[in-house]
Amino acid sequence: MKNLESYVRSIPDFPEPGIIFRDVTSVLQDKDGLKMAIDSMQELIKDLDFDVIVGPESRGFIFGVPLAYNLNKAFIPVRKKGKLPCETISMDYDLEYGKATIEVHKDAIKPGQKVVIVDDLIATGGTIEAITKLVEMLGGEVVKIIFLMELKGLKGREKLSGFDVEAVIQYEGK
Ligand code: PRP
Ligand code: MG
Repeated sequence: MKNLESYVRSIPDFPEPGIIFRDVTSVLQDKDGLKMAIDSMQELIKDLDFDVIVGPESRGFIFGVPLAYNLNKAFIPVRKKGKLPCETISMDYDLEYGKATIEVHKDAIKPGQKVVIVDDLIATGGTIEAITKLVEMLGGEVVKIIFLMELKGLKGREKLSGFDVEAVIQYEGK
C-alpha cells in the first residue's frame, strides 16, 4: 500500500511562482488515501480526554466531522463571516494575502469544555491562532491542535506556542 504522503499532489508555482501547493483533493479522491488520512489523524487524539472538535470552514470540516463521529464527540463549525444564523463572536486574522474574519456561535462551546482543533493544513498559523482566541473567549480549553499537513517553512507553530500541536505530514518548505 502507498504511504499517505504519496497521495498528496504537489503543484509547483501555484498560486504563484516559488510556492508548492499541497493539494488535499488528491488524498480525498482516493478511498485508501481518505481512510489513511482520517485514521492517521485519529491516532493523534484517540486516547485524549476531550469534549468537542472545532474545525474551520471549509477544509477543516472535511477532517473534523469524521473524527468527531468516530470518537463520539460533537463538532463545532467555525465559519467565514456572515454564515452563522445565531449570536456569534468573531475574530479577524491575517491571511498570506489579505485579511479575513471567522465566527462561531456563542453557545457552541461551554465554559470548561476541552477542545481539539482540527484542520487540513497549517501554513502561517493565522487561521488556527484566531480559533484558539475564539475558543478561549467562550471559556473553552484548547487541549490539542492537529493537522494533516504542516508547511514548516512558514513557521506557523510559532503563533501557536504553548499549545500541543501535531501534524501527520510535515513539509520543510513553504
Ligand atoms: C487554508 C487551509 C487552512 C489555512 C491555513 O484555508 O485550509 O485552513 O488556509 O493557512 P494559515 O495557517 O496561514 O492560516 P483557506 O482559508 O484557504 O480556506 P478553505 O479551507 O475554505 O479552502
Ligand atoms: Mg481552510
